[in-house]
This record gives sequence, C-alpha cells and structure tokens, in this order.
Amino acid sequence: METFRAFLHAFQLRGFPWVSIRIVVALPEVILGIETSCDDTAAAVVIGGQLSANVVASQQTTHLRYGGVVPELASRDHQRRIVPVVRQALQEAGLHPQDLDAIAVTYGPGLVGSLLVGLSFAKAFALGLGRPLIGVNHLEGHIYSVFIEPPSPPFPYLCLIVSGGHTQLVRVDAGFRHTLLGRTRDDAAGEAFDKVARLLGLGYPGGPEIDRLARQGRPDFVTFPRPRLEGYDFSFSGLKTAVRYYLDQFSQAERIRLLEQHRADLCASFQQAVVDVLIDTLRRAILDTGLRHVAIVGGVSANSGLRAAAQALAESLDVQLYIPPLPYCMDNAAMIAITGYFKAKSGWKSPLTLAATPTLSD
Ligand code: KG4
Ligand code: ZN
Repeated sequence: METFRAFLHAFQLRGFPWVSIRIVVALPEVILGIETSCDDTAAAVVIGGQLSANVVASQQTTHLRYGGVVPELASRDHQRRIVPVVRQALQEAGLHPQDLDAIAVTYGPGLVGSLLVGLSFAKAFALGLGRPLIGVNHLEGHIYSVFIEPPSPPFPYLCLIVSGGHTQLVRVDAGFRHTLLGRTRDDAAGEAFDKVARLLGLGYPGGPEIDRLARQGRPDFVTFPRPRLEGYDFSFSGLKTAVRYYLDQFSQAERIRLLEQHRADLCASFQQAVVDVLIDTLRRAILDTGLRHVAIVGGVSANSGLRAAAQALAESLDVQLYIPPLPYCMDNAAMIAITGYFKAKSGWKSPLTLAATPTLSD
C-alpha cells in the first residue's frame, strides 16, 4: 500500500488524471510478469501491488561449461521452460489465466533471441485472453525492484544500477521519469566481475564466486587502479586489464601456484577496487544532489562487500539506503510484474506490434 501511495503521489505531482480514470474503469490489479532477456526464464504474479508468486528457472548449468551465456542455447532453453514457468507462477498464486488483468513482459534490452521468446509468449497470451500487453524496459524493472518489498523509497531517489549488462547512476524523479547522471563508458560492473572470474579460473557467473572467495582474502594484497572519471561516469575495463597484466608477470607455473595460494586475495583486492569506485561515485552524487534516499539494484547489488560499504556510506551521510533482498537483485520477473502493475495503473498499454529491442536504453 505504501508502495502504491508513493507512485500515486508521483503521478499526482505530474498532474496525472488519476481520480477520473479510477471512477470510469476497473483498474488492473492482477498482473503476470515475464522476464527472458538473458539466461533466466522467469514469471511472477503481482496482485494489488503485492507479490503472490515468483518463479525463476536459471539456465546457469546450460552455460557453465562455455564460461558465459550462449545466445542460441539461451533462447532454446527459454522456449522449453516458458510454459512450465508461467504455469507454476499461476499455480503458486492460485490463479487461472482468466484471472489476469494484464501481461507485463520485458521487451529490451537483452539478447534478441531470448527477448523474443518471452515477448511472443506474452503477446499470444494477451491476445488469447483479451488482456492488455504491457512492455517493460528491463532497466526500469531493476529500478523499481525496490518496490517489490517495503521499505520503498519516496521520489525523488538516487538509483545505482549495477548488473551484468549495465552500470548507470540515475535520479528517479517520479514514476517512469528518470534522469541519467552517469554510466559506464566500457564494461558494466558485473561484466568486470565475470571477466576477472574467468582470468582467475572461476566459473560463470563470476560475481557470486568472487564475492564468496573475497570474504576469505586480503583486500590489500594488490592495489588495483580505481579509475575516477568526470562527472558520474564509470570505467571498469582498465581494472580488468590490470588484473590480466598482474597475472601476466608470472610464468605459467608461477601463475598456477599464485592462484592456488592467493586466489581469494586477488578476489578481495579486485572486489575492493570495484566497490571503492562505486561508493566514491555514489558519495559524490549524494553530496552534489542532496538526495536523501538511495537505491542500489541489479545483480551486483547482491555483493556482500558492496552492501556493507553502501550501508556504512549511508550511515556516515545520514541517508536512507534501499537494496532489494537477494532474490530481487538478480534478474527476476517480480520486478517486471511490479513495474507492469504501476504502468497498468497509469493506463499504459503496448501494441501487439511491440518489437523486441535488444539495445533499448533507459
Ligand atoms: O541483473 P543481473 O542478474 O543480469 C543483468 O541484467 O545483467 O546481473 C548479473 C550480474 C552478473 O555479472 C553477475 O556476475 C553479477 O550480476 N553478480 C554479482 C553477484 N551476484 C551476481 N556480482 C558481484 N557479487 C555478487 N554477489
Ligand atoms: Zn538485469
């Protein structure tokens, strides 16, 4: 309810004719969310702004042996899983398809073959049921993932999106109105974790593995660079290259021994560099904008080092911090369903010609 009030407030600030719509039409309350932008097949149900079911079928094992997501395998896996995953979500929510008021689905950014599976399914389902289709930008989904469970921030809030495909700092001015403050100029933070994990001989996705090992390592073992750019932009590719150069100093035999003895120290040193860069930029943005509510979302927001450093930063600057619970940091459909819920409430409807848009920006 608090969540809904925050959005209502934002829309009223924008002069949205909320009350008149409320009188003349029944507002959509039951939303199915579908997410297939990368390698997770996910479906969730939100009823009246509350999450009722959240199902994620991870394809991690499919891609593990390749050290990264193989787009063709990802889309085939989505095809196999989309129907059972949606069926399970409906079962968990205790619903029949006819109970749904709208179908929300990610239409970009992401892998085109993966997006197409979720989007085609959603279109067919919406058409067959005679319900509206609501296209959701995956990044918007991450931004509003802090509305899945309370406490949720009031508008405006500062939002750091750190995922495998994106790293952005945005000011969320009101519902569906954001201002981009900074972005990565090369690798995303999660991408850096994944690439460094590969250099260190760890599995995919690399972030959780580095996070786990970093807890046993020394963050001061190697001082990797902390690039600081103009404004609030980020750069992580130099950091990844610094890890490569560091390893390149050693012969093959020395490197094997180094990794055996110091893999955890290297993880801790790399992770500390990423966390320092993110926290330094966040600190400057908080001080410059004067915003008192700060969210961190996306896969890398699951990182224990980042969560601890962000909490310490929030306490030192006396700002309120919002980081979603772990299941809503990584890709999930709950964030698509909640975003779809707010879009539906504002009368949003997408045409059935909506195209999968791999490079969709914020
Ligand atoms: O948001 P997400 O699930 O997918 C994208 O939208 O990209 O983020 C996935 C990224 C991967 O790069 C993964 O390595 C990273 O999030 N990640 C982490 C952790 N858990 C996932 N990075 C650092 N520490 C973690 N605990
Ligand atoms: Zn994501």
